[in-house]
Amino acid sequence: MVNSHYKDVIKYFSKKAAKYDLVDEQLYWRLSDKLLEKIIQVKLIEPFLKKKELKVLDAGAGTGRWSLILYNFLKKSFKLHFDLVDITKEMLTEAERKIRKKGLTNTMEIHLGNIEDLSDYPNDYYNIAISFYNVLSFSENPERALKEVFRKLKKGGLYASIVANKYHSYFFSILNNRVNELADIKSGKTRYTSEMPFIHCFTPNEIRKLYQKNGFKKVEVIGFPNFVYPNIEDARIEGQSRQSKNLLENKKNFQKILATEFRECFNQDVVGRGNVLLIIGKK
Ligand SMILES: C[S@@+](CC[C@H](N)C(=O)[O-])C[C@H]1O[C@@H](n2cnc3c(N)ncnc32)[C@H](O)[C@@H]1O
Repeated sequence: MVNSHYKDVIKYFSKKAAKYDLVDEQLYWRLSDKLLEKIIQVKLIEPFLKKKELKVLDAGAGTGRWSLILYNFLKKSFKLHFDLVDITKEMLTEAERKIRKKGLTNTMEIHLGNIEDLSDYPNDYYNIAISFYNVLSFSENPERALKEVFRKLKKGGLYASIVANKYHSYFFSILNNRVNELADIKSGKTRYTSEMPFIHCFTPNEIRKLYQKNGFKKVEVIGFPNFVYPNIEDARIEGQSRQSKNLLENKKNFQKILATEFRECFNQDVVGRGNVLLIIGKK
């Protein structure tokens, strides 16, 4: 049975599913994704370079964007298996279409389900788990999901998730004249546009502690991007702000900003500035 919280989440993403991947055409998100790709090369892939085989759990996989990106990075060096779990059928339909088109049905399995209950999946099994772009934030009980993912990881496995940053949420609400939402943010709930449901947001310390409380070790929190932020138009799936377009369509600007973001993103001084927070913990 799907409760009212998840009915709202599913309603929101089922409408977005067919157009979700248009995000690739928005220059702000292209910059953010290129940066994330560089970060995960170092933090999520390099630690496993001595292995021959990797099992990956994409918990809240959506349209499969990040499973497919990871696959491309990993395919030359590892034998791979991916399990993609998501609660919104329409998002998985998009993932399935892409997986079939690329002939990866033997490598990637798709599952409709809630990551707060992963009892159908083997324990101590996955080397890498990811929940990119606010899956834990959209979950009704992020801690329950975190506990589940922890059980499914092998010892030494890594869990990388991306959640909404409470400090950036204060900034973004003020920027967009939604000052009456500041009290919600203080209590840990935010939203980027007035059409979306409220989601959980965290300070870097809050999310680090939640990971540690649930058994994760060597927890690292990385804010990104730290020096260029989306405008309200970039927070929607279609269209983009003129400011982001003007700034980033110049390829040299794009590369210079990317290099600066990458150089500074591991610096703990700036973590609270991040548009979002990436958290990586080890079992
Ligand atoms: C913003 S999308 C991100 C999708 C994908 N991780 C990416 O980065 O492209 C968030 C996804 O989380 C899914 N989701 C939210 N809560 C979930 C839960 N508890 N269990 C499974 N999926 C969930 C939604 O259905 C949606 O597809």
